[in-house]
Amino acid sequence: MLNGQKMLFSGMQATGTLTLGNYLGALKNWVTLCDEYECFYSVVDLHSITVRQNPAELRKRARNLLTLYIAAGLDPVKNCIYYQSHVSAHAELAWILNCFTYMGEMQRMTQFKDKAAKHADNINTGLFTYPVLMAADILLFQSDVVPVGVDQVQHLEITRDIAERFNNIYGDVFTIPEAYIGKVGAKIQSLQDPSKKMSKSDENVNASIYLTDDPDTIIRKFKRAVTDSVGCVQYTDEQPGIKNLITIYSACTKKTPEEVVKEFEGKGYGDFKMAVGEAVVSVLKPIQDKQADLLKNKDYVDQIIKTNAEKAGYIANKTLRKVQKKVGFPERVR
Ligand code: TYM
Repeated sequence: MLNGQKMLFSGMQATGTLTLGNYLGALKNWVTLCDEYECFYSVVDLHSITVRQNPAELRKRARNLLTLYIAAGLDPVKNCIYYQSHVSAHAELAWILNCFTYMGEMQRMTQFKDKAAKHADNINTGLFTYPVLMAADILLFQSDVVPVGVDQVQHLEITRDIAERFNNIYGDVFTIPEAYIGKVGAKIQSLQDPSKKMSKSDENVNASIYLTDDPDTIIRKFKRAVTDSVGCVQYTDEQPGIKNLITIYSACTKKTPEEVVKEFEGKGYGDFKMAVGEAVVSVLKPIQDKQADLLKNKDYVDQIIKTNAEKAGYIANKTLRKVQKKVGFPERVR
């Protein structure tokens, strides 16, 4: 608890170009939760280097992501928005937690298996212990709730396991966090293959809507979205492409899937796809404009980066010191 409110932590990687999946599955929910919790939103750049990065590009993407958080509606005064690499407690706690995590647990992580297959030439130990760093992020802030998309649920479970294991040995050190999964949009699928998740690393650019796409590109990608030959807008697993488009439309318009189905009764896929495209443009365009303004406002953004890193560091270090004491490291001499 901080200021009488429960704690919330979440983060995103500054790798690749963010997709509509990242927005609808995570960022959009963050904005709705920020009044209820004391929130920490990190640009998790330590995680990013588990895959080889171009340094200048990573720095640029990190700043883009930080401004995107603000542009999407997170007030940087109420929410602590910061770079993970500016708070060294993340790496320090991750080391300690590594010593409380088993190889077998990491080997079972599906995202590790996927990423190892994708980057067979660089299966580094950082990629392997990635979920431990994620556990450290969450546990440092004694987080009660962690809003994420469905693909992160396994990492949340291992975080809980590590925290419980630690607490069983040393007493109540960590709060056991819960995942918060949004009702709509927790799993946005590819526009070209609705059996796959929409992902920033997809080689087919038409499979994902990037948050940087201009309105024409967005509309064009929806027009090309893979559907089926049924010809009727229905919310069913038998029509995964249409179901995914209904989910996207619902999430952007706040209408329920049932309402969407009613709205497009008797209408063709062409009309429906156009409406989905327009709904997405009306959500993304204002965010893109605000982000462009923020990127021009260097001093304002720098000030946020500085003050929020200090705040995050202060809270994180409180937990870190407690953990260091519990495991038996010598007390600091003042
Ligand atoms: P990342 O950067 O891959 O994704 C950021 C968030 O977006 C969600 N997401 C999706 N949601 C719905 N549909 C999709 N197609 C989709 N694609 C991505 C993800 O679930 C995530 O919530 N390991 C994390 C970052 C992280 C983190 C943390 C998250 C590091 N430490 C601590 C929470 C708490 C990751 O790589 O997310």
